[in-house]
Amino acid sequence: MSDPPDHVLRNRAVWDSWATRLVAAGERGWADNAPDWGIWGVPEAQVDMIPDDIAGRDAIELGCGTAYVSSWLARRGARVVGIDNSAAQLATARRLQAQHGVRFPLLHGNAEAVPHRDASFDFAISEYGACLWADPYRWVPEAPRLLRPGGSLHFLVNSMLMVLCTPAEDGVAASERLLRPAFGLHRVEWPSEDGVEFHLTHGEWIRVLRDCGFEIEALVEVRPPADATTHYPFVTLEWARQWPCEEVWMVRKRGAPATPTP
Ligand SMILES: C[S@@+](CC[C@H](N)C(=O)[O-])C[C@H]1O[C@@H](n2cnc3c(N)ncnc32)[C@H](O)[C@@H]1O
Repeated sequence: MSDPPDHVLRNRAVWDSWATRLVAAGERGWADNAPDWGIWGVPEAQVDMIPDDIAGRDAIELGCGTAYVSSWLARRGARVVGIDNSAAQLATARRLQAQHGVRFPLLHGNAEAVPHRDASFDFAISEYGACLWADPYRWVPEAPRLLRPGGSLHFLVNSMLMVLCTPAEDGVAASERLLRPAFGLHRVEWPSEDGVEFHLTHGEWIRVLRDCGFEIEALVEVRPPADATTHYPFVTLEWARQWPCEEVWMVRKRGAPATPTP
């Protein structure tokens, strides 16, 4: 097997070094079995990230980190697998599995090349995971390979608009001006960080998702409640109440689900 691409190796080193910072959020997510999403903790009722019929389904979280999202799926009856590029993040996830008595497979690997057979899953999910840190020209084709016909993929990322308005300086919040071109958006390296992010324009997301066999079901522009708080410095509540700083893509693999045999 070939070596992972350079962004995967760089992001592995970055996330191994950041893992201790994510422990508290992971512990909170595991302790509170009421899903909320993104940097503002927007309630599930506003976003509908988890399908109502998840019980008994095969699910995979792409870039699961501390795996609190996977724990929510497992507790709702899904047979879930989490994959993550960082051994240190998975170490936290394993400790929290033992603490809460909720077990499911955790794989150390790259969501762009998942070691599972075709059509193994009914549902794939990612919250700021592979959908942000993996290359969409590699991880998006992998998702429909993993899904059965009719299976769905939900992912939450920074909005395109916010990426265009975010200054390069560390810790400075999104402005009300467009600061970089939309055309050509793909690999983004912020000067103060060693990690590699990936962002696309909406048109390009739609093209890639459709070319890979998905139908777009929804693009949810996340609006935080008026009293929401975040510890992330890259956007203010005032900004996020006026423009979407996060977006959720909900897509479904073309083709009808197989009829179960009696
Ligand atoms: C922000 S965490 C996402 C987990 C959780 N939802 C959260 O918001 O804390 C990002 C995770 O994506 C993982 N990641 C980055 N690139 C990846 C890749 N190519 N394949 C799998 N996981 C990846 C990182 O190791 C990290 O644990």
